[in-house]
Amino acid sequence: MLTVKTCGTSESTFADHLAELRVSIDRRLDELLPESGNERDLIALAMRDSTLAPGKRMRPILLVLAANSLGHRGAQALELGCAVEMIHAASLVLDDMPCMDNAQLRRGRPTVHLKFGEDVAILTAIALLSRAFGVVAGIAELPAATRTQLVEVLANTVGMQGLVRGQFQDLRDGQQARSAEQIALTNTLKTGVLFGAIMDMAWLVSGATPCKRSPLQNFALELGQAFQLYDDLHDSSPDTAKDQGKDAGKSTLMALYGPEGVTLRLYEHLRKAQACLDEALGRDHQLGDFLQLIFAKVAIR
Ligand code: IPE
Ligand code: IPE
Ligand code: MG
Ligand code: MG
Ligand code: MG
Repeated sequence: MLTVKTCGTSESTFADHLAELRVSIDRRLDELLPESGNERDLIALAMRDSTLAPGKRMRPILLVLAANSLGHRGAQALELGCAVEMIHAASLVLDDMPCMDNAQLRRGRPTVHLKFGEDVAILTAIALLSRAFGVVAGIAELPAATRTQLVEVLANTVGMQGLVRGQFQDLRDGQQARSAEQIALTNTLKTGVLFGAIMDMAWLVSGATPCKRSPLQNFALELGQAFQLYDDLHDSSPDTAKDQGKDAGKSTLMALYGPEGVTLRLYEHLRKAQACLDEALGRDHQLGDFLQLIFAKVAIR
């Protein structure tokens, strides 16, 4: 079982820290996204609308907390976090399209294709991905070799070794019966690989020792499994932020094991995630506290 650790700070101080971090992330995203002075510039409007809409900002927060725990003190982790959030936002724009999950609502707002049209949705996703790579490549304070490595990590994450393959498997293979292992692989590719990139970027930007890399990757994989299970578990719960019931008829671990079985697996992934974190970062870090907040609805004890 997990326990909330205060890490030398009170819980309210940690909540304040998270709130400040969220403000910094949103402010920097606002600066990095194209201005939308012209109401006919629909791509700029849609890039801003989809990315700045109220999501949890889990990925940039994870990146900054991990980098700080590894000793990073600069602003570069925030910059990398914003790039990852743009990639995540792009994946959501595409995921919601009629040819994919056909969703109406995202982050409490009409989905991009409904508000701006499918043509704009596709172009917005491409523009967000391109901007993300440009942001990473342009961090002048980092050595060119590090920037190249960071870009490579992101490229692998988005492409055929990651998100794209995961979404493809989810859409096509999800229509037929699959083994638990096949479903878990899809979940890793569509969700876990981005967490892996986040941990690798935190590791690279902080110049941490090589021995930290593997436990951080294992943490990301456990987190990816846990997070997709958590998301699937709540697919049919009332939600004012996004569509419900989109997984109906798909081969998911929910369909195989039901809510009780999935909750047990979720706990197991979280327990392993916590153990990997402790191995990489020792016991004095804030990522464990952050996990407690993310998975609050399953009442982790
Ligand atoms: C939704 O991610 C997509 C999944 C990987 C399940 P989030 O639940 O993190 O979405 P936002 O960023 O808070 O909107
Ligand atoms: C999508 O999973 C994961 C992505 C990579 C976008 P879902 O399709 O379950 O995500 P939601 O439920 O629409 O946020
Ligand atoms: Mg989907
Ligand atoms: Mg979806
Ligand atoms: Mg879902």
